[in-house]
Amino acid sequence: MKLFNFFKTELAIDLGTANTLIIQDGKVVVDEPSIVAMDRRSNEVIAVGRKAMQMHGKTHENIKTIRPLRDGVIADFQAAESMIEGMISMMNHKKKLFGYMKMVVCIPSGITEVEKRAVFDSADHVDSKETYLIHEPMAAALGIGLDVEEPVGNMIIDIGGGTTEIAVIALSGIVCDQSIRIAGDEFTMDIMNYMKRQHNILIGERTAEQIKINVGSALHDLETPPEDYPVNGRDLMTGIPKQIKVSYGEIAHALDKSISKIEDAVLKALENTPPELASDIYKTGLYLTGGGALLRGLDKRISQKTKLPVHVAEDPLRAVVRGTGIALKNSDRFSFLIDRNSI
Ligand SMILES: Nc1ncnc2c1ncn2[C@@H]1O[C@H](COP(=O)(O)OP(=O)(O)OP(=O)(O)O)[C@@H](O)[C@H]1O
Ligand SMILES: [Mg+2]
Repeated sequence: MKLFNFFKTELAIDLGTANTLIIQDGKVVVDEPSIVAMDRRSNEVIAVGRKAMQMHGKTHENIKTIRPLRDGVIADFQAAESMIEGMISMMNHKKKLFGYMKMVVCIPSGITEVEKRAVFDSADHVDSKETYLIHEPMAAALGIGLDVEEPVGNMIIDIGGGTTEIAVIALSGIVCDQSIRIAGDEFTMDIMNYMKRQHNILIGERTAEQIKINVGSALHDLETPPEDYPVNGRDLMTGIPKQIKVSYGEIAHALDKSISKIEDAVLKALENTPPELASDIYKTGLYLTGGGALLRGLDKRISQKTKLPVHVAEDPLRAVVRGTGIALKNSDRFSFLIDRNSI
């Protein structure tokens, strides 16, 4: 048994629309964008993660870049498996894993049975011998450090790349949840459209994301405003590259509608919360996580809208994978983990 354990690899995987993270032995060993670059003719993988991202928007006819997940779920299974394989081999210095592999993979709460089965199949294909799934909001709650087993309600708002998931968790279960397809990717699209409409300048997805990170804002009046940000793009009138500067106020304007939709979903989730849990949430407030939680002023804006305290999780981009790692260590105890036989 000892020898057997020696060869045991245990992985916790957050397969996100924007980022894939893997924890092994309590440490984050992979933290890469969810993207793969492939040869268009042979379908061979050329690069995964950050390296593939650098090629995104700059490919020629022989290379394609694929983001295998859309709206939180796997949209291209073959590409997703190639990506996971590439990332696993990345962490093992190109050596193939051998021995016994156990995995916990997190999934969006709205996923169908067919989609769950497909995730199990993908895990089999990358040689996992023991696979469990965990719902993302549950993983986020664990990662934030909440005691999910207590008879106390907590509301988690996870704003990722593809989806915003809002869930109330108590007694090891998800009591109610809302999932909308408005999150980081949509914010990025909003910025691309705004630049085109307002400034007649065409920018790519990567540039728009950089604008969001550098001068993104949910409020028009920030206490500590970021400096205006220089943006390079192509002038739609002349066709020539040009540079302009954008302010956080402009981006707050560009993102306003999408953020309102998230606010509406939060209000709806609060409305659907059973009263005993609502009274817990009144006391504890809301927990914000996922990359979107980093948007300037978003916590304040949601707090103003709901009149509830809003807490931003520590290191929000890693809360879900941290929680998935905790689930991996407690897989014999946590009843909310899903195994193949339970679907
Ligand atoms: N500082 C920042 N300000 C605003 N947005 C940010 C910031 N940093 C990252 N993001 C955005 O967060 C998103 C990624 O978040 P995260 O890694 O939580 O998503 P994901 O888990 O991959 O997606 P999903 O959970 O929807 O499948 C991206 O859209 C990214 O642009
Ligand atoms: Mg996520």
